[in-house]
Amino acid sequence: MSGPGIESIDRGEATARLPDFPALLEMALLAQSRARAPYSGFNVGAAVLAGSGRLYPGCNVESASYGATICAERSAVVGAIAAGETSVRACVVVTPTREPSSPCGICRQLLAEFGPDVAVFAVASLGDGVMAARLGDLLPVSFGAQDLRDATTDKADG
Ligand code: THU
Repeated sequence: MSGPGIESIDRGEATARLPDFPALLEMALLAQSRARAPYSGFNVGAAVLAGSGRLYPGCNVESASYGATICAERSAVVGAIAAGETSVRACVVVTPTREPSSPCGICRQLLAEFGPDVAVFAVASLGDGVMAARLGDLLPVSFGAQDLRDATTDKADG
């Protein structure tokens, strides 16, 4: 896993960079154990650090109508917002793999709502490795609020 701004580190280094990392990881591992993944068998847990400093868990919840499935990262964001948070500072995601798995594109897009500086840590529950990246490096040139504003302006101009 590599690319500009995308680093392979270990859990100790992740803690040095983000003191909340161990608590986020513990919360994500518990959420992973609670994931509902009867179709893929791929249990994912997540935890986000919100603007208030509080932590919120998430897990994937699968549906027999596969497209209705929600990923762990988005589940954690939804929980934080529903609890009254307005921003997200960091997201830890745990997959049942030997190497870290990168968050899917839809989850990156939702995390992009909170800015390019959201810190993302992907952790392999069957290994030691951690992938660390800024959201802006995982999803450069993202679609965003500015695109919608531009269209509104064009309409008003036209
Ligand atoms: N999944 C996540 O929860 N997060 C990701 O970033 C990638 C995929 C879930 C969705 C589905 O329930 C299962 O993993 C297999 O794709």
